[in-house]
This record gives sequence, C-alpha cells and structure tokens, in this order.
Amino acid sequence: MGSGEDAGHRGRATPQAQSVRLARKTQSLDILYAVATSLSQPGDLEQLLAGFLDTLVELIDARAASVRLATGDGNTRLIASRGLAPEVVERDRLMPGGRCPCGWVAAEGGIRIQAGTAHCAALLGAPMLERDCAEFVVAPVQYQNRILGVYNLFLDRPLAAMGEDMPDLLVSVGRLLGLAIEKSRLESEARHLAVMEERNIIGNELHDSLAQSLIGMRLQLKMLGESLGRKDFGAAQYEVRGLRRAMTRANADLRDLLTNYRLKIDDSGLAQKVANLVERFGRETGIAVYFQNDCRELALSRMQEIQVYFIIQEALTNIRKHSGARNVRIMLNNEEDLYTVLIEDDGVGMGSIEESGDGDHAGLAIMRERTERLPGQIVIESEPGEGTRIVLIFNAPPAGGAAEARR
Ligand SMILES: Nc1ncnc2c1ncn2[C@@H]1O[C@H](COP(=O)(O)OP(=O)(O)OP(=O)(O)O)[C@@H](O)[C@H]1O
Ligand SMILES: [Mg+2]
Repeated sequence: MGSGEDAGHRGRATPQAQSVRLARKTQSLDILYAVATSLSQPGDLEQLLAGFLDTLVELIDARAASVRLATGDGNTRLIASRGLAPEVVERDRLMPGGRCPCGWVAAEGGIRIQAGTAHCAALLGAPMLERDCAEFVVAPVQYQNRILGVYNLFLDRPLAAMGEDMPDLLVSVGRLLGLAIEKSRLESEARHLAVMEERNIIGNELHDSLAQSLIGMRLQLKMLGESLGRKDFGAAQYEVRGLRRAMTRANADLRDLLTNYRLKIDDSGLAQKVANLVERFGRETGIAVYFQNDCRELALSRMQEIQVYFIIQEALTNIRKHSGARNVRIMLNNEEDLYTVLIEDDGVGMGSIEESGDGDHAGLAIMRERTERLPGQIVIESEPGEGTRIVLIFNAPPAGGAAEARR
C-alpha cells in the first residue's frame, strides 16, 4: 500500500508519528490475521459468517455488522448479522440493488461510507438502529474479480480515525471473506454431488440385484401357477425349489447392500461366476445358452469383474424379459490386456431402443454407467426381427492393478 509515499512520509515524520504509523500497521496485520483465522475454522457457511462477524465487530469496535450477498438479479440478500434487532433483520432481508449503497457497491465495488443510516431507514421504513451510528460503511466481498456481495459496518467513530489504510484493509478483508464463501460453496457442491453419485450407485445396485430377483421370481411364480393348474406337482415342486433359491440369493444381495451399500461377487472368478449365471439362466428359461471363455487369463480388478458380471446379468435379464430368443451366445476373449465381451440373442430385436434411464427402463442406462466405470465402450446393435448383439470392450488395469481392489 503506497510504499513510495510511505518513504516520503518517513523522511519528514517525527519519531512519535512513526511509532503511531507502525502501531497502526501492526493493528492492520492483526486484523487481517484474526479475520483469516476466523474464516479458516471448520464449519458450514453459517458458522463461518458468525465467526467472521464476531471477530470483525470486536476488532473494528463496530456496534453492528452484516453480510449481504448479491442475488444475481441485481438485489442483495442479508445472510448474516450481528447487533441488529430481529425485526430489522427481517425487514432488511432483500434490498433492491440500484437504490442503496449496498446495491451500488455490489455492482461497482469500492468502499462507500455514509454518515449514519438514514438512507437505509428510509428504504426500510424503520430505523436500522435504536440510536443511529456515526458512519455506515459498505465494503465489497470479492472472489477473484467477481463481487459476491458486500459487508457492512455500523461505526460509532469515523473510519478515518482508525488510520488511513483502513479502506485498503477492508477491501482485503472482503477478499478473504469472498474466498472463504466461495470455498464453502464449492465444498457443499462437492458434498451434494457425492451424495447424488452415491444414491445413483445404490439405485443401480438395487436395480441389478433385488429388482432382477423380483423379475425372476415373478416369472417362476407364473410357471408355478401354470404347473399347479395342470396338476403337474413334480414341475410345481421344481418351481418351488427354484423360488426358494432365488429368495436366498435375493436375501444375500439385500444383506450385501445393507452392510456395504454395494453388491459383491464371490471369489470364484468372473468366468466361473458367468458360467453359474448362464447355467441358472438356461435352467430357468429353457433358452439354449452357449458360453465360451477364450481368455487365457482373466486378469481383471475386482471392480472390473463386478461391472462386467452385472452388465452380462442385465443383458441376460433383458433377453429373458423382452427378446423371445431361442438361442443366446456369450463370449469372452482378450488380446493381451484388451478384453471383449459379446452377448447376442436371436430374439425379436429392439425396435427403437427405449433407453430412458428412468425407473421403468433403467437397465441399458446402468449398463452404460458400469461401462464408464470400467472404463470401456459398449455397442448395442439390434434390428427388429434380427436379434440383439451387445459388444463390450475395455482394457484390463496395468500390471499389478488386478490385485487392487475392493470398492
Ligand atoms: N435383448 C433384447 N431384445 C429385445 N428388446 C430388448 C432387449 N434388451 C432390451 N430391449 C428393449 O430395450 C428396452 C430398454 O431396456 P432396459 O434394460 O433399459 O429397460 P427394461 O429392461 O425395460 O427395464 P429394467 O431394466 O429397468 O428392468 C426394453 O424395454 C426392451 O424394449
Ligand atoms: Mg432391463
């Protein structure tokens, strides 16, 4: 702040004047340091602003203070205050931008100082303070070159009496506050995104476990009803056994989700897991499934095994539900660390792919999300009457990565 001018001053200043200046500089640094400390405390925005205002009121010896943020439509909104009566806070919540110093500073920056708060009282229709203050100071809250809002100080003695560098200091304080507000906003946005992502994953896991099981059980129940209708008790017993197994699996999936919020697959390896899935699928649907694993070694991470397994499972569930296919072919192969998974059926094919991703048709969208997590690429080819073919391509993790793993 004006170092050349300082040097000039120093040339003429008496020792007393010099020590006053030094004391003020130290005071400014103390204020900045205390404000920075108050803003670096953990907590949400409300706690952050409360700490900031308490510190400021004490250090600047203000009767009251407040923070207003620009609303984006030209107005400012009061978000925190100290020393203002509750009814004033209520009236003062939203202020029209172009008609008061807060709005002007929020639009143009700079520091504005006015004698007392008569101007605000006229807008509010009531006095701001029981006994008016000497000066009402408005300073910008800035983040980089954006003005996020303003903060106000209600002072009993003029700002100038506290030293000539006070305006610069208040601008610096406003920048610290702006940085803290922006950081808090980004953190809460990141938290919100993490929650949404987690909800989405749990939704996907539910779709690929309990929702799948219920679909399977509904079909088995239908077959049980038909067997009983025919009085074919042998077939009925067979369906009941299948239903019991399906319920045990659904229960295990539910337990996984309750404890880990994720589905697990056992340690038997992807090829064995797919072979079991295929065997069960064939048994329950009567559809002929041909499964060929041409991978010499399936060196996938645990996370990749899970994604591939559930992609194949959803493809099979779709075949069961929608295709009317008689034959299904599943092939796994790799060229070094580039893996390909093919799942094709000779069913009715998809007309136009109804891939809404809503609760009713989520399967294909979840397959794509799982593919992204691999990461890999998925191609779905289908024509009406021509069956459906899904090709999934992805890279295995670099050497040693396969050991990485449990989510
Ligand atoms: N193998 C297939 N053969 C014929 N049509 C299919 C096949 N796979 C998907 N479809 C069509 O694509 C649509 C979307 O499939 P998707 O898996 O996204 O939803 P869904 O199976 O209807 O419902 P969800 O998977 O949420 O239980 C299906 O409704 C179906 O019309
Ligand atoms: Mg589906």
